[in-house]
Amino acid sequence: MKLTVIFLLLHLLHHIACEKSYVVTNEQLDAFEGDSESLVSFDTLRTIGEERALNGSFSFLGDMNNDDFKVSVELYSSPKSDGDYKRIVFDVPPTNICDCFKKFYVQFVQPSVREGDITNFPLVDEDSCPIPQGEFFIKKLIFNIEDWPDQVPRGLVKAIITFWNDGNNVGGLIVVVRIEDRDS
Ligand SMILES: *[C@@H]1O[C@H](CO)[C@@H](O)[C@H](O)[C@H]1NC(C)=O
Repeated sequence: MKLTVIFLLLHLLHHIACEKSYVVTNEQLDAFEGDSESLVSFDTLRTIGEERALNGSFSFLGDMNNDDFKVSVELYSSPKSDGDYKRIVFDVPPTNICDCFKKFYVQFVQPSVREGDITNFPLVDEDSCPIPQGEFFIKKLIFNIEDWPDQVPRGLVKAIITFWNDGNNVGGLIVVVRIEDRDS
């Protein structure tokens, strides 16, 4: 009995501690091609339904090893959500691809795909390398923001995620999310 109460309290505390002061909605998704060849494709990813879930598939044309492949992320913020974007400082410069997935995919995306049949992209852990070739589905992904930072800019945030092979842009995607205070 006592144990149950303690367990419930811990559960509640954990929940309060994890509660973020903001909510995130998918706003827009656009894939782009590489400069001379495309080795990644996000063409069929879109937002669907009222909850604007991410849905579709993406493909990697070959295995991507940590030395030849990099990923960069440029971030822009439109505080008034009017499309007037300014670059913000949390950019990720071109970073070796496996390191990038272990750090950013694990923090920002993986918590959202842990339960249910949301994606067949393999779980990323310490040993994940290379990033595997394949076509992978995403079914109705809603961002789980439990591991996201506490401080994020409000308004629209645009992330330009570019994949690089030997310094050449080989495709990527632009993700726009809307970030609002939880109680507004
Ligand atoms: C959602 O994505 C899945 C997996 O790619 C696909 O089979 C399904 O047709 C998509 N649904 C919609 C409404 O686009």
